[in-house]
Amino acid sequence: MLDVFEEGKVYEVLLVTRSNGTPVGVVREGERLRFKLFPGRSFREIIETGKASIQLTNDPELLVRTALNLPVELEFVEANAHRWIKGLPGLYGRVEWKVERWKDELGETEVLLCEFIPEGEIEGTLPVKPFSRADCLLIEMAVLFTRYLVKPEEKLRARLLEMHSLYTHLGGRSTAVDHMVSFLTENAQKEH
Ligand SMILES: Cc1cc2nc3c(=O)[nH]c(=O)nc-3n(C[C@H](O)[C@H](O)[C@H](O)COP(=O)(O)O)c2cc1C
Repeated sequence: MLDVFEEGKVYEVLLVTRSNGTPVGVVREGERLRFKLFPGRSFREIIETGKASIQLTNDPELLVRTALNLPVELEFVEANAHRWIKGLPGLYGRVEWKVERWKDELGETEVLLCEFIPEGEIEGTLPVKPFSRADCLLIEMAVLFTRYLVKPEEKLRARLLEMHSLYTHLGGRSTAVDHMVSFLTENAQKEH
């Protein structure tokens, strides 16, 4: 299963911990997958348990809804002291981590640098799904939106709204995007 990850390339996967599921960007290095987490529920649960599952999805809506904590219909399986989403292929395993200080344009914070070591494979299949540029934009918008929630800058808000017009031009329709756009619009009204 690790073979599906090309070394050095970032893949957006689902990280499942004790009570949470969230997208994370992982990079394969040998027999391990590296990722970093900013403070949040996954951050805390990795420290507490040292365990996680990493699962593949080709459903951009699922990645985005879990990132924004919007409702999703998922069934979970608990086995071998691990937890994962039913039906999605992946790996369960242990996580080695260290906390580091992190400084970027959003400010200074702590970051959890993680290395996932697989212990077993999770069975599942992905639905047949054609490639869409609208889906790429949806993912990119959600990543930027989670940054906007940390630091609501006008420049970023304008960029997100621009991406939204390309998204709709490409035929994209998503309730998660509606959620982001209403938030951005309401925020603008608050500023003025
Ligand atoms: C495609 C995508 C990839 C993301 N990758 C990461 C990541 O690698 N690390 C991270 O800390 N947050 C990442 N995020 C943001 C988190 O999903 C978001 O901040 C979430 O609220 C994490 O908090 P939680 O652990 O409390 O659920 C990503 C978001 C999206 C949409």
